[in-house]
Amino acid sequence: MPALALALVLSACTSSDDGRSDATVPVRATAEAATATSATVPPPSTTAAPAPATTAPSVTETTAPTTTAPPAPAEEQEHAVPPPGAGAGDSFYPWLGNSGYDVTHYDLALDVDPDANAIDGVTTVHAVSTSELETIYLDLSGLEVSTVKVDDTAAEFSREDAELIVQPTTPVPAGVSFSVEVAYSGMPERIDDPGVPFFEIGWFNQDGVIFTANEPSGSMSWFPSSNHPTDKATFTIAITVPERLTAASNGLLTSETVVDGRRTATWQMNDPMATYLAAVYIGEFERHEQGTREGLLIRDYIPSSLTDEERQATLEALSVTPGAIEFFEELLGPYPFDAYGTLVLPFRTGFAMENQTLSLHGNQTLNPLIIGHELAHAWFGNSVSPGDWSDIWLNEGFAHYLAFLYLADYEGSDIGALMAGELQAARDANAAPPASVTVQQLFDFNSVYRRSTLTLHALHRHLGDEMFFEVVRSHYQQSAGDSVTTREFMAIVAQLGGPEAVALLASWLYSPEMPSTLDDLAVSDSAG
Ligand code: ARG
Ligand code: ZN
Repeated sequence: MPALALALVLSACTSSDDGRSDATVPVRATAEAATATSATVPPPSTTAAPAPATTAPSVTETTAPTTTAPPAPAEEQEHAVPPPGAGAGDSFYPWLGNSGYDVTHYDLALDVDPDANAIDGVTTVHAVSTSELETIYLDLSGLEVSTVKVDDTAAEFSREDAELIVQPTTPVPAGVSFSVEVAYSGMPERIDDPGVPFFEIGWFNQDGVIFTANEPSGSMSWFPSSNHPTDKATFTIAITVPERLTAASNGLLTSETVVDGRRTATWQMNDPMATYLAAVYIGEFERHEQGTREGLLIRDYIPSSLTDEERQATLEALSVTPGAIEFFEELLGPYPFDAYGTLVLPFRTGFAMENQTLSLHGNQTLNPLIIGHELAHAWFGNSVSPGDWSDIWLNEGFAHYLAFLYLADYEGSDIGALMAGELQAARDANAAPPASVTVQQLFDFNSVYRRSTLTLHALHRHLGDEMFFEVVRSHYQQSAGDSVTTREFMAIVAQLGGPEAVALLASWLYSPEMPSTLDDLAVSDSAG
């Protein structure tokens, strides 16, 4: 059953999936520490959404035994108040992102030694100041910074936790374009993020493959940035590797050169991208191309090591992609970026990830539901990104519901019957209200994926096909290339759907109990 498969993928957390034999923090203890401290953590002060509900238990809270382990220092920072400029005001992650400037473009040049798992990098952040800047904050975790230049002039800098604090020789005036060039090196260390208790996130190096899965905070483990989806920018990512390896990233491959046995692949992301969606993929891969009827480029990367039979099965699984894109384009409007594709790892993973224009899959996640899910994120998550990490349901609920609509179309099944199964599972799990989650529940499958999916199905049934898709398209068009909050989505529902639709939506998103709106689905399912 595909739904179950995804649930297992997203909740899986075995040490072999972890990909790091030298991890010092046991995965389980991390989840426990996060759970144990959650009760004492004061609620966020700047939240754009109603305060988190504390009554509905999450999967983690019900399964993880409590412990007296003290909180990790990173978690303390998570909830302290950052100085002005050092945060973007996120209610879950006050230190992520920065203020006083808007990034317009990131230029990354990464020289990678895969055997040592080390990088030698230069990242240039092109930005426009929105106020006078005596200090420029960037987010960077670990690594050794050698020099920082502001507009080509060397600048003083210091490090504090995950902040790189840059002191330009003269303040940057408000309203001007400026650049910060950071030269750095070292081994990227994956991040223990309270929202992802299953594994550490960021830069993975496993069985001869380097790949990135950053969501939400992990990109700061391999490049300095304003690390929040409210500050999106275009990217150029140039990756240099030993000639025998392939290097892939986001957008279009604009050049590939080999000098002295080192291959440099330069990738160009021409549309705004959130930092958490930035990708580096290095390994032995073959590139296969397909396309939609309208001519959108689809380039997939599959392991070179596959047997003929495995290669055939992998390409067969990926062959649903053009049809899935066309299905979503019909519902939502044109695919938002220059290209799409899937990078398939030569091993299993505990998750799949919608890295912009080149989704990451393990070799066991290539089914129409998960392929559809990662693809649907192109519209919801990647083009329209969360304005606050507490709005995560807008990513996962839309991606997952759209994937179910695609699955129903693909296999000729009834969406009502599929949703009846999801409803039963959500009830059995007593799924928490998805817009009231805590940071520890960021990827709580039953709440953020399953109950959000049911939320949209309930709204769909209430509004009918035509009005529901008008709401969805308005939501998409209003924020394409940008970010959005639950409140803004609510305003569209209010305007187009009226107060009853808002009340229905609010009950699914915020009420501790599961609403009964869809109960007839379960009845008709068991009766028929
Ligand atoms: N957004 C991903 C999905 O919906 C889940 C990512 C979990 N992994 C992570 N590194 N945060 O498939
Ligand atoms: Zn997702």
